[in-house]
Amino acid sequence: MLVIETIEDFRRWRQEEKGTLALVPTMGALHEGHLSLVRIAKTIADKVVLYIFVNPMQFGPKEDFGTYPRTPEKDIEACQKEGVDAIFMPKMSEIYPEGKDNSTKVVPPAFLADILEGHFRPGFFTGVATVLVKFFSIVQPDAVIFGEKDYQQLLIVRRFIQDLNLPITVYGAPTVREPDGLAVASRNAYLSKEQRAIAPRIHQLLQEAAAKLQKAQSKNQDEMEQLLKPIRQKFKEANFELQYLESRDADNLQPVSPQTKKIILLVAAKLDSIRLIDNLFVS
Ligand code: PAF
Repeated sequence: MLVIETIEDFRRWRQEEKGTLALVPTMGALHEGHLSLVRIAKTIADKVVLYIFVNPMQFGPKEDFGTYPRTPEKDIEACQKEGVDAIFMPKMSEIYPEGKDNSTKVVPPAFLADILEGHFRPGFFTGVATVLVKFFSIVQPDAVIFGEKDYQQLLIVRRFIQDLNLPITVYGAPTVREPDGLAVASRNAYLSKEQRAIAPRIHQLLQEAAAKLQKAQSKNQDEMEQLLKPIRQKFKEANFELQYLESRDADNLQPVSPQTKKIILLVAAKLDSIRLIDNLFVS
């Protein structure tokens, strides 16, 4: 497996590769969720590249950019084991040579990017879209694979790839969970023993909410709101600071309507300063 650190070296390697290439974008601190993306990537392309770059543009000023887990040696070892062909891990100065604030930005449409995660993390999806377009332009992948755990991110990536006419196929991969249901995430590393014991309540309460909505068979947003109220209360009782628990149309994250084909529940909840997100399809 190659470990490539500069854009120039990556481009040279890429030019020599003739087959199809699948890219797994990551910020490192690799876990089973990322490795599941690599396994899918291996089934759809001749070569698999995983990039690691902790992207400062998608962190708010009070967020955890400085302390975000960084485990490069472990990550390289895990990729080697999974049969990744090349890891690309460029320096900050290569990706943002003039600094992140002076970079051209890619701004996804507000109806998708300013709600839910984007409401609580202003500018987050501009940071994500900008860094991804930069990496897509360097790596030139035929396919990219994203986890459904970051469902809003997945829809936004599909959208800007379509809007910008990028010749890339997007694959979504099911969320990987711990045996107790907690969605696997790099930020789980921050959880204390006590918090780790509470965290699986997120998935349990999502399941409870999904069962309620399924039973009601409603496609009326107001009715659903009434059904979700007691579940929101249960999040609070379990000691979460609930940022949102919403039922949305899974195709576009807009309020559920009679035209909705599939409903998704999305949640962001904090345990002290640790912010966890998850989601679950209802139908
Ligand atoms: O999901 C992530 O880890 C990041 O948002 C991504 C897609 C690697 C962009 O920085």
